[in-house]
Amino acid sequence: MNRASHQPTIIVIFGATGDLAQRKLLPALFHLYSNGYLPQKTRILGLSKDHNDSSSFRKFARNVIERSVHQHRAEELSEFLTTLDYLTGEFENKELYRKIAQELAAIDEREFKLCSNKLFYLAVPPVAYDHIFDQLARSGLTIPCGDSEGWTRVLVEKPFGKDLVTAQALDRKLGKLFQEEQIFRIDHYLAKETVQNIITFRFANALFEPVWNREYIDHVKITLWEKFGVGQRGSFYEDVGALRDVGQNHLLQMLALIAMEDPIKLEADAIRSARQKVLDQLKPLSRQQIRGSVTRGQYQGYREEQEVAAESETETFFRLTAQVNNKRWRGVPFILESGKKMAAQKVEIKVTFKEKESCVCSPDDKQIHQNVLTIHLQPDEGISLVFWAKKPGLEHELEPKTLSFFYKDSDLQQELPSAYEKVLYDCIRGDQTLFTSTEEVSAAWRFISPILKTWSNVPLIEYQPGSQGPT
Ligand code: BG6
Repeated sequence: MNRASHQPTIIVIFGATGDLAQRKLLPALFHLYSNGYLPQKTRILGLSKDHNDSSSFRKFARNVIERSVHQHRAEELSEFLTTLDYLTGEFENKELYRKIAQELAAIDEREFKLCSNKLFYLAVPPVAYDHIFDQLARSGLTIPCGDSEGWTRVLVEKPFGKDLVTAQALDRKLGKLFQEEQIFRIDHYLAKETVQNIITFRFANALFEPVWNREYIDHVKITLWEKFGVGQRGSFYEDVGALRDVGQNHLLQMLALIAMEDPIKLEADAIRSARQKVLDQLKPLSRQQIRGSVTRGQYQGYREEQEVAAESETETFFRLTAQVNNKRWRGVPFILESGKKMAAQKVEIKVTFKEKESCVCSPDDKQIHQNVLTIHLQPDEGISLVFWAKKPGLEHELEPKTLSFFYKDSDLQQELPSAYEKVLYDCIRGDQTLFTSTEEVSAAWRFISPILKTWSNVPLIEYQPGSQGPT
């Protein structure tokens, strides 16, 4: 089914030859194109400082897509590549913006014969944002053609700022250029199929909501373990570290979805505001708690990675416990843990229920009879529930059993769209549900910034690659 908008659209990608564009954006755009989810009239304008022209950029994109999208039709790929154009330039140089303006006007005039929609995607490290926003403002490129035609929108990658102060300054700058409804702050975890499923799972089933609280839940653990290290992203990572890279955004957003109240409606404002309320209710960690209970680690060999300082103090691992200070959750620990070069590729949310006070089981049974509900994101997406059952036999013994649902066991696996397809698709449709609001970003920084300030007093523990992180 073709559900793409009919309005001609130009997607302008800053950082079109970078890591994100290669791994995620170009494959996602091609998938959207082949499934009919891009506007019928779409052009993609790639920008970077690499000395390319449109034809070498198309070759580059062909290689990237052939490597990552295994099943594709050759003519479809060739057709898609004709939608790509390219400009070289420095993002801080106003000359580049003059060329962009010329190129966009030429496409509108030559091909679309009207003022098209313009989507600006900042697939660049956060240090480049300031220059790009300043130059976009000066060039007037972000001004829409009118109320009813030619919208302009901006997609901004995380981390949004380095702390609360810089995030708010960035917001003020963005606020001068765009209305809030034009700004799409990406947290691609929100766009993952299983993360979206959390809302459905919790609020479309009568089963779980009555026990989804401190009376029944013992603790929640959110884990994002990656087997690989920082790879080619050393210079980006040095500046950011694990807590800013995935803690302030992906992990806290998953926490928000697990802990939020029923938004009642499937509407962007209702859902964003329900997530925000939870983030606002995160109990700030005291200096003492930070020193005593936050773990910070760095994998052995990190300092030898490309573009990493020989004395680097950047963390590649953290573990901390957050508390949501409200009636539903008071006292329930939410343990957040993430690391690179870990023993396994594992992303999951584990909700462990309290043990029943009484157990109809043998007095010799010393097992802890807890139910555990796991929302699995990696290596496979799905949901599983551990419950207790009678072991078949003459004695009354209990054993754990698992009820589970995994997309890979159904025919759907092939069709699961990537998070970046959803991000691009929703931005083109103007649906902000899966993007973070300015209030959510501020609330998340309000919790994380004090930890970052006290960070230097938390010892940095070295851990073995392929391990469980620091003990
Ligand atoms: C990104 C981080 O936001 O998320 C990366 O910058 C991390 O460091 C990645 O590897 C994990 O995302 P995914 O979708 O691969 O689990």
